[in-house]
Amino acid sequence: MTNEYYINLDKQYISNTYKRQNVVLARGKGSTAYDVEGKKYIDFTSGIGVNSLGFCNENWTSAVTAQVQTLQHSSNIFVSVPDTVLAEKLCKATGYSKVFFSNSGAEANEGAVKVARKFGADTKGKECVNIITLQNSFHGRTVAALEATGQDVFHKNFYPFTGGFKYAPINDKSALENTYDDTVCAVMVELVQGEGGVIAADKDYIRFVADFCKEKEILFIVDEVQTGVGRTGTLLTSTQFGVKPDVTTLAKGLGGGLPIGAVLMNEKTQGVLSFGDHGSTFGGNPVSCAGGVAVLDELLDRGLLNEVSPKADYIRGKLLEIPQVKELSGLGLMIGITLAEGYTASEIAAKCAENGLLILTAKTKLRMLPPLNITKEEIDEGIEILRKTLE
Ligand SMILES: Cc1ncc(COP(=O)(O)O)c(C=O)c1O
Repeated sequence: MTNEYYINLDKQYISNTYKRQNVVLARGKGSTAYDVEGKKYIDFTSGIGVNSLGFCNENWTSAVTAQVQTLQHSSNIFVSVPDTVLAEKLCKATGYSKVFFSNSGAEANEGAVKVARKFGADTKGKECVNIITLQNSFHGRTVAALEATGQDVFHKNFYPFTGGFKYAPINDKSALENTYDDTVCAVMVELVQGEGGVIAADKDYIRFVADFCKEKEILFIVDEVQTGVGRTGTLLTSTQFGVKPDVTTLAKGLGGGLPIGAVLMNEKTQGVLSFGDHGSTFGGNPVSCAGGVAVLDELLDRGLLNEVSPKADYIRGKLLEIPQVKELSGLGLMIGITLAEGYTASEIAAKCAENGLLILTAKTKLRMLPPLNITKEEIDEGIEILRKTLE
């Protein structure tokens, strides 16, 4: 079969919600993929931050296939081996007390919203259910996560919302103070706004938000769906900001390619949700959790986490040697690239794909989220394709 065959099937049968590149990936190993016709691509996308160990990492594949051949699902009415093992590893490595497993980032954020609203109602009364999020944020596509997302462009066409969110501009302390009132139960932020254009928040501002939440006795929630699980050089990015959120959400890179999300709760929030308050048929699926355990083993026990920052420095150094690259943003292996005037990121990304490099965009920037274990050879090969494409 040809690429065109599947592109036509996609156009005919898949809902029109994605603007896809004309690439039909068929197989991959590490950070190298091949399309249906055998064309090779270097992957700087990791499936938008999901394939943290690249395509078909051997340890990950063994763990996942062993699990799928042993027990693929058992339901949350029984105790399951992989989710308890993953929960212990996550809690021990992050210092959180408990975790709720969901299936995606949006769902993890929905869980965090429920924790915040119940916490507000329990501690301050039933009016205390509003959450402040940041303008230009992205928290997902389900109705509450969409409303939490501080970008009108995603809101239009989907009213009415259920309410319960207020928005404040990033890095503006007094705006946060002015947005707060007695109905606010939490502030939820991204530390690096990914979909918003790879914009890192100021550390000083994030510490202010954490202190502000403590002072007002409300929850500080950090959405680490994109920044978490080693992406920026530490297991959680909040460590680099010197804060300990009451709730952290994870997803993308956690399963190494399988659907999973996590709501991490500290001593203060671990008991907020109780029996019957939340649940998910697929949440904590054994196969996804086995993938998660393999990812954490690679990061923490086999030392991959220590390689992320040096690798990011190397890539950033190489990128800055390209004349058409004006500025870099983000943290670690979450990289935003501002191009010189006259270069359109979406056009360059499409040209890169033609030339054998998969790369993302965010707003007007090019964006890179390579697998955390991308090799130096793959980096060099990919950067060379980008350099030639920009020439
Ligand atoms: C910060 C952040 N939160 C939430 C989401 C939504 O995650 P999902 O697409 O898994 O629902 C994303 C996805 O890009 C994200 O970047």
